[in-house]
Parts: sequence; C-alpha cells; structure tokens
Amino acid sequence: MIISTLCRHIQRLTGTSRPRVVRLAANGVPKTRSLSSTTTSNSTADDVKSTADAPPEMIDNRPLARPRRALLYCPGSDARKVAKLSHICGTVDSVVLDCEDGVAHNKKEEARHGIREAIQTVPFGRSECAVRINSMDSGFAEEDLNVVFSGEKIPKTILLPKVETKEHLDSFCEKLIKALGKRKTSRDIHLLTYVESAKGLLNLKDVITHAIELSEYNLFSLEGIVFGSDDFCASIGATRTAGASETLMARQQVVVTAKAYDLQAIDVVYIDFKDIDGLRAQSESGAKMGFTGKQAIHPTQVDVIQAAFTPSAERIQWATRLVDEYHKSQSEGKGAFVFEGQMIDRPLLLQALNIIDISRAVQTNK
Ligand code: COA
Ligand code: MG
Repeated sequence: MIISTLCRHIQRLTGTSRPRVVRLAANGVPKTRSLSSTTTSNSTADDVKSTADAPPEMIDNRPLARPRRALLYCPGSDARKVAKLSHICGTVDSVVLDCEDGVAHNKKEEARHGIREAIQTVPFGRSECAVRINSMDSGFAEEDLNVVFSGEKIPKTILLPKVETKEHLDSFCEKLIKALGKRKTSRDIHLLTYVESAKGLLNLKDVITHAIELSEYNLFSLEGIVFGSDDFCASIGATRTAGASETLMARQQVVVTAKAYDLQAIDVVYIDFKDIDGLRAQSESGAKMGFTGKQAIHPTQVDVIQAAFTPSAERIQWATRLVDEYHKSQSEGKGAFVFEGQMIDRPLLLQALNIIDISRAVQTNK
C-alpha cells in the first residue's frame, strides 16, 4: 500500500487528519526545557538547538510517558511462565508477552493464542501489558497482530523488532489497521521499535522521524527504542564479551538518537541471569549512559534493574536542594556558584532536573 493510501486508511479509522498532538516527556530526558510546557509531534531534533538557551523552568511539566525501567519478557507459548505473571505483575514496570525469538517456530500459533488469553485474564495492575510481535520480514507478524487484537481487551503496547527501514513501519501500520478492523483508536497503542542490525542503526533517525510522522494520525505513538544487542552482534560479526565493549558505540548512538527525539531508550539483555552482581553493574552503567530502562529475561532480574534506573532518595534530595540554590543564585545575578563543594552551572541544573523527572514518573506510576 503506498503511503498516501495508508494515511487515508488511518484517517478513516481514527477520524483524524494530521492533528497536532502533545508529545510525552520520556522521563528524565527533557528535550526542550523551554517556557512552553508542551511540544508537538512536529518537533524534530533541530528544535533542541533552538530552545537550548531558553531559561529553564523548575520542572518539565509535560505529560510523562510511563516509566519502563524493566521490561520482562515472557514467552507466550510457555503456559507455566504466563501463569507465573499473576505473582509478578505489579512489581515490574512492563511485561512483554513474546511472540518472537523467545518462541520456537513451531510454537508461534500457541504463543499468539496464549497471549490473547493472558491479555484477558492476567491481573496486570500497574504493570504495562506489552506484546512483542515477530518482525515485518518474518512472515508471522500479520497473524500475530490479528490474534492478539482479536480479544475483548487488547494490548496497550506493541514492541516491533528488527526495524530497519521506513517501509517496515508502513507495513506495520497496514497490518495493524487490518487487525484493528472497526475498532476506533486514539493514540491508545504505544509503540517501541528495535534496533538490531547495522542497517537498523544507520537508518534509526529516518525510522524515528517516519514513525513520528505516522504517529500524527493517532493510530499509535512511538515512545521508545530498544537495543537488541545479540542480533546486532550477529549482524556486525561481533563476539559478545562480558564487558560488552563491542556494543558500546551502538549503545551510545541509540541513546543519543532516541533522546534527540524525546524517546525512551531501552538497554541490552543481561543473559547470564544467575549473575546478579554482573547485572547490577551493567544496569548501573546503562543508567549512567542515559538509558531509561533495560530488558529482563528472568523475574530475579527485575528488582535489580528497577533499582538501577531509579534515583536514590539521597540523589533526589541533592537534586532538589541544587535546583533551589540555582534559582537563588540566578536571582542574585550569579551564573556559576559553589554548592556542597562543587562548581554548579546550568548543565548541572539540567542533570538535577532529569533526576527529579525520573522520580516523578516513577512516583506517578506507583
Ligand atoms: N516470565 C515468567 N516467569 C518466569 C520467567 C519469565 N521470563 N522466567 C522464569 N520464570 C519462572 C519459572 O517458570 C519458574 O517458576 P516455577 O518454578 O513456578 O516453574 C521460576 O520463575 C524460576 O525459574 P527458573 O527455574 O530459575 O528458570 P527457568 O529455567 O524456568 O527459565 C529461562 C530460564 C531463561 C529459560 C526463562 O527465564 C525464560 O524463558 N526467559 C525469557 C526468555 C526470552 O523471552 N528470551 C527472548 C527475549 S531476549
Ligand atoms: Mg532480537
């Protein structure tokens, strides 16, 4: 389907014609701390430049995207693990019911139906109910969408793996429209796309801008980028090492590109799920790099990951005191000043505001 026809289909389904919509703050990654409290989806990375010197307000008060500190995969074909979710929900930010690589090829049908059932019956509570469908090139995606959207309750969030081109997004839109049938949506469906190959990384900016363009039709809203490091390593011929230095450049590029568009950035899986110290170290390093969350494969990983992506009470108090001092010093006409033994200027203020935003998002979703 060519894009103009696709857009007309989306308009018919949603009853919208390119509205200007409010973009969400991606929790601690405020793109534009300008005096205006909202931005539109027409915003691009260029807007960052134009507002970077605007005076900071205290808190970025745009609506917040839900925190996604830990995203726990659960293979849809594994009834025992799906049943286990009733005990896990409420503790984890996002549950990802998986149709893709956690499910064997001959179990795809079982996984889809297990997931549709789980969406109806699992008490998700404050946990997000997300579904990872198969990639657009797999030949499985259309049926995944048809089945998981056929129940009375439908998933809030879709994770779309192995996105490399704008055409993958067009194809996703087309199939989502068919799966939704006559259901009306209004930006109810949140989308996270994956970078999992050299091509996907090089095309990430184009993919994001296209997804933001498509988001304007109120079919879905792009909220984050997930880095799929194992597929990425396979794509570039790298060997996974414990320190993960082979993925460092790609991880940094994913964070920078996602943040340029005010999106969440979700870090790699730590596959050695019994090594909790290693997980903690990698989670903390991801949080320091700017990732907003991390993928998890086992329930024991959830608390460690969520703690790493939540600022400590001490850090929040430090940030709050710093913001107060900054405003005091500004009113006295001082730029740089000394606070608790450190030189503080505007970049430090912005870092403090990031901490406050993350804690605000976590508190809001409790
Ligand atoms: N979701 C829900 N429950 C899970 C779970 C998950 N991801 N992983 C483990 N559990 C449950 C197990 O069923 C078990 O419960 P039970 O004793 O009532 O059966 C309990 O937690 C302890 O599990 P454990 O015995 O330590 O692990 P396991 O050998 O059953 O499974 C994995 C280990 C890695 C295979 C499993 O954690 C898993 O499948 N993870 C997801 C993998 C995935 O989706 N990969 C693709 C994305 S990268
Ligand atoms: Mg993958």
